[in-house]
Amino acid sequence: MADALFLGLDVGTSGVKALLMTEAGAVEATATTPLPLSTPRPGWAEQHPDTWWDASLTSIRQLLAPPQSARRVLAVGISGQMHSSVFLDRAAEVIRPALLWCDGRTTAECAEITQRVGGEDRLREWVCNPALEGFTLPKVLWLKHHEPAAFARLATVLLAKDFVRLRLTETLGTEPSDASGTLMFDPARVRWSRDMLDAVGLPVALVPEVGGSSEVLGHVTPAAAGLTGLVAGTPVVGGGADNACGAAGVGAITPGEAVASWGTSGTVLAPTAEPRVDPALRAHTFCHVASGVWYVMGVVLSAGGAFAWYRDQFARDLAGADQPDMRLSEEAAAIPPGADGVTFLPYLQGERTPHRDAALRAAFVGLSLAHSRAHLTRAVLEGVCFALRDSVSILQELGLAPSHLLLTGGGARSPLIRRLQADVFGLPVSTVNREEGPAYGAALLAAVGAGAFPDLAAAVRRTLTREPLAYPDAQAHRAYQALYDRFRASYPASRPHGNTDPRIG
Ligand code: XUL
Repeated sequence: MADALFLGLDVGTSGVKALLMTEAGAVEATATTPLPLSTPRPGWAEQHPDTWWDASLTSIRQLLAPPQSARRVLAVGISGQMHSSVFLDRAAEVIRPALLWCDGRTTAECAEITQRVGGEDRLREWVCNPALEGFTLPKVLWLKHHEPAAFARLATVLLAKDFVRLRLTETLGTEPSDASGTLMFDPARVRWSRDMLDAVGLPVALVPEVGGSSEVLGHVTPAAAGLTGLVAGTPVVGGGADNACGAAGVGAITPGEAVASWGTSGTVLAPTAEPRVDPALRAHTFCHVASGVWYVMGVVLSAGGAFAWYRDQFARDLAGADQPDMRLSEEAAAIPPGADGVTFLPYLQGERTPHRDAALRAAFVGLSLAHSRAHLTRAVLEGVCFALRDSVSILQELGLAPSHLLLTGGGARSPLIRRLQADVFGLPVSTVNREEGPAYGAALLAAVGAGAFPDLAAAVRRTLTREPLAYPDAQAHRAYQALYDRFRASYPASRPHGNTDPRIG
């Protein structure tokens, strides 16, 4: 069809974004519906899957407001926040709110898993990753231990984007990039890990069949067509984890590439031709949405999320103002590197890479009466960059030394954060001609599934172009080296109770 469209949907943490992409790769329309986040206790984070579905409906309906566009949609692709646990009963009803990727309540269950399988070497062998609080399996065990009545009803565990596909198509399924983040899937062999499921005493029936990321896994039902405005029978592909789709959305699907992303979390990932596992398990190893490709990824739990928290708590005067984030960054841009001595540790929800510690907490260090909000803003942005730099260093240590980094998300859109990343990482950075991130990657997968492109590599070649590299400033990078050392030395301030001295507290 000459005027074909592909719908990409991203079920994020701060909102659900939908977009329409043409066969030439142009973005014809976008719509975003914000999502609330519930933090019932410090370190916990939940969302009800019904809010994802409602926000998806709102975004899709808004996108298809001119009804003729629905007939042009040849396929839908969905991307979503990773790891977040959708607990369903036999009737596919949601049992309780999902525990999110940034929820840190399952430390005891992580220790239990590691002990049950016989140590981290076994985890490395079976699932390529350590047991981390944010992953899905520890959440299933948490449900078993803490809400046994809910666990007794549990029939299926799904991921966010697969839940939205279930509501759209009434078909259960997942694909390798998201299954990889459950700790029940073996990314190296691209199949559910019977060893792991047996070791923790869970049946394989709990998890759905695994299809391909660009494979059609279901079709829009008449009921969902009525709710969304989509045409009944529209194919829906497997889609992918938001980080994998975000990388696809900037064309990073082959070894040698690397991407730094600022969503609610911040990630740095590098595709690999085979599963590569960090010997210290500080970074994750997952399947990519391009088949036969994996990636190694470091995760900062609070990146854009730290900035949003800071803005909402400390810049209330800007609420309702035009572009409050831009106004804050302009204030920060006037402050020198290092924020005149203020360091921010962004560990609001604990940290994955490199610390693997859900009990860490955020801190401002070095405050004095001479500091203003602009200093704190600058410290927040620099602190997130330093935390991402930890992940860049791990990729370099593993020999995945990228020659440059592609930027996506909020850190790609802001000129100040683009510059900060180049100068802090000491690497050239670039962006692409599309800034829609995971939703764009999901639309590319939909286009491949509909046969518009033979594969994802062809889709990327035909739709994306790169902006010229922006090089780090040598003098600024030298200054940031020393400031990065200061950031790392401030780490004890983020430990529980703020000190490491056994004589105190
Ligand atoms: C990755 C992770 C986050 C979420 C954010 O392991 O937990 O990046 O995918 O949506």
